[in-house]
Amino acid sequence: MADPVARHAELCEALRKHNHTYYVLDAPTVSDAEYDTLYRELLAIEKEHPELQTPESPSQRVGAPPREGFVKVERAVRMYSLDNAYDEAELREFDRRIKEMIGEGYSYVAEPKIDGASIEVRYEGGKLVQASTRGDGRVGEDVTANVRTIKAIPLRVAETQPLTLRGEIFIRPADLETVNELRASRGEAAFANPRNAAAGSLRLLDPKQTAERPLRVAFYDLVQERYDSHGAMLEALAALGLPTHREHGRCADIDAVLAYIARFDARRETLPYETDGVVIKLDEVRLRDSVGFTSRFPRWAIAYKYAAEQAATKLLSITCDVGRTGQLTPVANLEPVQLAGTTVSRASLHNLDLIAEKDVRVGDTVIIQKAGEIIPQVLSVDVAQRPPSAEPWPAPTVCPACDQPVVRAEGESALRCVNARCRGRLTAGLWYFTRRGGMDIDGLGKSLVEQLVDVGLVEDLADIFALPTQRDALLGLERMGEKSVDRLIVTIDEARAGRPFSRLLTALGIPLVGSVAARLIAEKYGNLRTLLDAPREPMVEELAAIHGIGEKIGKSVADFVGDPDQRAMLEKMLALGVKAEEPRREKVVGGVLEGLSFCVTGSFDRKRNEIHAEIEKHGGEVHKSVKKGTTYLLAGERVGKTKIEAAEKKGARVIDEDGYGRLLAGESLDEPES
Ligand code: IVH
Repeated sequence: MADPVARHAELCEALRKHNHTYYVLDAPTVSDAEYDTLYRELLAIEKEHPELQTPESPSQRVGAPPREGFVKVERAVRMYSLDNAYDEAELREFDRRIKEMIGEGYSYVAEPKIDGASIEVRYEGGKLVQASTRGDGRVGEDVTANVRTIKAIPLRVAETQPLTLRGEIFIRPADLETVNELRASRGEAAFANPRNAAAGSLRLLDPKQTAERPLRVAFYDLVQERYDSHGAMLEALAALGLPTHREHGRCADIDAVLAYIARFDARRETLPYETDGVVIKLDEVRLRDSVGFTSRFPRWAIAYKYAAEQAATKLLSITCDVGRTGQLTPVANLEPVQLAGTTVSRASLHNLDLIAEKDVRVGDTVIIQKAGEIIPQVLSVDVAQRPPSAEPWPAPTVCPACDQPVVRAEGESALRCVNARCRGRLTAGLWYFTRRGGMDIDGLGKSLVEQLVDVGLVEDLADIFALPTQRDALLGLERMGEKSVDRLIVTIDEARAGRPFSRLLTALGIPLVGSVAARLIAEKYGNLRTLLDAPREPMVEELAAIHGIGEKIGKSVADFVGDPDQRAMLEKMLALGVKAEEPRREKVVGGVLEGLSFCVTGSFDRKRNEIHAEIEKHGGEVHKSVKKGTTYLLAGERVGKTKIEAAEKKGARVIDEDGYGRLLAGESLDEPES
């Protein structure tokens, strides 16, 4: 018989080669049956000679047992995200800034922006040693055991220097169908899109399950700067047998980038992965340092995102959601349709006027649109396809949740349920109360809130704090086992003892009181008891005297605490031990933002509240809207033009997060940004 050591090495080599041709090059060189024969021979040899079974053997992809959770991985070099551009003008602006910084002699690489989950994989001494998810960029989760099961990722590479690779894990849309069929046969819910499927599969606790998922990967970055250009780096990775997208184009200038985008747009649908844009990177690595980073993005790269997508589908019915203030919001229930990678079956109709204006009728074919992360909306009606029987939609006369008559306030397009005891309003109010940014009671999802209201365990917001004494009743609810009940009780107790008064005030959903106003009010009164005991008479004036709070907000708060039902509910909270104390904050003196005021608008990677807190921490002031004296309008993504123009009219300077980062760093913004 042949030497087992030699044969073992030969088999490992052959299997690695076949994985590479199949998963990386997409050009299989053997049939599945032949592959299986080789694989079984390898297992047989390793059974006879266990010493040959190293962690890098193709047999050792699924080795680790299921885990309890993931270990955090702190990385030395942060994973940045990308700034976005939505049109040609924004790309030219990106190029203009680069030109301004480095002059001539640079070029770009354009490549697909793959819609998946980001991953970092490290090799040391040629062996795969660690893989981690993105997390918050600095700290991710260790998913090594799961990543080892992905056959496209070699366990060994012919490079002994350390390699820290970054890329995207994805599932091919065609494979998603197979995964979903399998899930359906086990009674599990289908994944809505390949991205969710990829991210979910990466974080499964049992690597055996990850191994069943057809995950793929494309690397697009090597943290160690060993190559002069991005293009050369990508080619070197591919030469090492590592999976890359193999789609990059070198572009001499921004015009060439635009041409790449146009070409790519036409090919997008034919690629085996989903893309949501094109990433443009400065090719010359040595020039990147002089261009630098903002607090979140490299300035030398940008993602060009494709425009919002539209789809046509049939409107099956119109129903109304009841909000916590009783406002009815019409929702379009649709025949499920694929839109920008997700299955959509509901879309927003905004308000009653819009339905009338667009003459939206049940049975119509409607065009829906999705922009960014926002809920899809009904854009228009394809009247040509209207069935003859379709009638104009009759606005509801009663609340869908409590059957009480609804009213339409003068001059308002919205219908409202004014029944203070409406279950629909309570459910929405509870959801608002317990969500993140409010009382932050994790584990109280929508369906649990609905159940609590339905069985009568919760009749007002305060009742949440009585739930810990109702353990048995909670155990009787759907999908509530011992573990989840105990976890829920712990978080409720934490919320009872630990949320600042300002959080409680925000969470109550008092009309006009957002987190900034809540903070100011909480700082004035210190705690709930004091607010309740404050004489009502001068309260409006007292509140309105706080800088940043007007008459209207003052009245709204005074009305709320003066309402007998709300008072009783708040007293009940106190009786149930809700602390709600506002911690004393020292006024920051000499912070870098002292004397500056900011209005923050648009969307950011982090929560706006966090930015508010950061501004205040550094001595700055937060204005809810731009007024006379507001120094800066800090604009995130998707800010309307009118906002910007209004700010400029009032003399506030518009800055982006980059400019804000510079202020925080103590720089001054001399020349106005364009
Ligand atoms: S480069 C510093 N290249 O998009 C450079 N990212 O919106 C950072 N992504 O978190 C990323 N395809 O997960 C880069 N070809 C590509 C990409 C890509 C997909 C993802 C990545 C990143 C996100 C940013």
